[in-house]
Amino acid sequence: MCGIVGYIGKQKASAIILEGLKRLEYRGYDSAGLAVQQNGRFGLVKKVGRVDNLIAQAAKARLTGTTGIGHTRWATHGGVTDANAHPHLSSDGKFALIHNGVIENYVSIKKFLLTKGYTFQSETDTEVLCNLIAYHYAKETEEEGTSRFLTSVRKTLHHAEGTYGIATMCTDCPAEIVAARKGSPLILGVGDNEYLLASDVSALISRTQNVVYLKDREIVHITARNFSISTLDQEDVAPVIDTVTWRVEDSDLGSSAHFMEKEIFEQPAALENTMRGRFSEDQSTANFGGLNLPPFEFRQIDRIHFCACGSAWHACLVTEHLIERFARMPVEVDYSSEFRYRNSPLPASTLFFIISQSGETIDSLAALREAKRKGYKVLTMVNVVGSTIAREADGGVYQHVGPEIGVASTKAFTSQLLLGAMLALYFARMRDMSYSDGVEYVQALKMAPELVRKVLEQAPHIREIARRYAHYKDFLFLGRLSLFPVALEGALKLKEISYIHAEGYPAAEMKHGPIALISEQCPSVFFAPAGEMFSKLVSSMQEIKARRGRIIAIVTEGCELPPGLADELILIPPCHEAVLPIVATVPVQLLSYYIAVELCRDVDKPRNLAKSVTVE
Ligand code: M6R
Repeated sequence: MCGIVGYIGKQKASAIILEGLKRLEYRGYDSAGLAVQQNGRFGLVKKVGRVDNLIAQAAKARLTGTTGIGHTRWATHGGVTDANAHPHLSSDGKFALIHNGVIENYVSIKKFLLTKGYTFQSETDTEVLCNLIAYHYAKETEEEGTSRFLTSVRKTLHHAEGTYGIATMCTDCPAEIVAARKGSPLILGVGDNEYLLASDVSALISRTQNVVYLKDREIVHITARNFSISTLDQEDVAPVIDTVTWRVEDSDLGSSAHFMEKEIFEQPAALENTMRGRFSEDQSTANFGGLNLPPFEFRQIDRIHFCACGSAWHACLVTEHLIERFARMPVEVDYSSEFRYRNSPLPASTLFFIISQSGETIDSLAALREAKRKGYKVLTMVNVVGSTIAREADGGVYQHVGPEIGVASTKAFTSQLLLGAMLALYFARMRDMSYSDGVEYVQALKMAPELVRKVLEQAPHIREIARRYAHYKDFLFLGRLSLFPVALEGALKLKEISYIHAEGYPAAEMKHGPIALISEQCPSVFFAPAGEMFSKLVSSMQEIKARRGRIIAIVTEGCELPPGLADELILIPPCHEAVLPIVATVPVQLLSYYIAVELCRDVDKPRNLAKSVTVE
């Protein structure tokens, strides 16, 4: 959840690290810091708050060194203080360390180090790890052909239980960095006479497109001239250099006020990119090159089990609805964090699917590993190319929506809905769906970008509604069938970025409890699309109105509501069932966004959150 950046080259490291940290800030923004090798010691600056605070402090520090490491923190162990910010130094001042993850046995290591005279300035597990490196280093002797620095990091990591992505420097080796990972992402950038390290490619792409994705239990030793990778068990690893396709402009804000706004408005293009080249020549089904699921293997599968977290979990629920409806296959949806410990009995004929925008969410990664350990085939739907989940799965589909920087997921979510609809089509056509129904379904999916564009045209109208409703303290989001998960997503969006309490419920379930909340003070955002449920939805709305609840209704153009029933009306264009969840999501994204803006919230970096959750 923290951001890591490292640099070795000929340029001033601090400027490059600070730029990288700015780009990584969405991974954690409690505090930030950097350390640079400077005349045999570390130039160190760290500060509570945003990277801009750090930039101001660093400007005063005259950091001229060309090797350095930097970090943005999402606090786990220890409060948000300058002392707890990274990098941490060992008590002898020889080592500087940044860390993403959690060292679970840090208390016992700390006790041991205290007996050896090491001292601690912070409450963090990271400082403990840093001192353990110093301890091993002090015990090591220099040996021809081996790096004492590397050996002491390796020995330290053999004792560390938990997860880590680390980068460390030693004052005795002024142009070297040793970095390693287990459970937290780490990428090496191979530039022109320079090397970079980062927990996320967006921090690298302004300097290089060539990257090496480190695997768990790998250590990279970087010097000014080259790098070598080995495992914790000292086996050499031949590096594979991949090329990143994301462009640096993709992570820039451009003329938008917030990344969330930019990403909401990017959705038509994002949906086009998600679909591109993925329909069969006869336009009757979807094509997924990377799924690695040949038809004869698909025939052995009779149920699908999805695991995900947060918005991606909502996307799984919509996909469940569509697969069951069109492909007539039973689908189960689990929270990744529950699945990994629940030990559910599942038939051998189950196919697993993990959905994750970042591809690094630790709970989803653990669910993937658990399913694989039990011998199931695991496929994924991931946005970030080369991410750990994508690499460890047996196959999958990439979302191709470019970097999503806003902490609240928007374009990645609708792209997951689209891929879910495409999967439903693909499975349905392998089973009973006819050619002509397939053609009609494909035509409908292709309309999605245009339909979303139409909803986006209503942004000014939705902004007005947001102004009128921003002061309410509680909201209900109500929908049925495939729009129940969209109601959950609407409630999550509002909670995350505006800090207003909101709950999503199946509309008809409301009368079994949540109706007690209805009053003039608790508005309901109500999805009432055209279709066979419309009259039942209208009845549920009447029940709200009878209790003086205010209603923001999201209704298909051409559907008539009884006069006075809705206090606010947002129209969505008529569309196919498979596209409806995508089209219906956009108004609630806009509503939440504009409410948060109205309340002057920090939309892209809401309190307590971070973009990808790489700790348990
Ligand atoms: O990267 P992932 O899709 O695995 O992330 C899952 C959730 O952490 C994520 O969707 C989170 O709920 C977002 N903040 C939602 O806006």
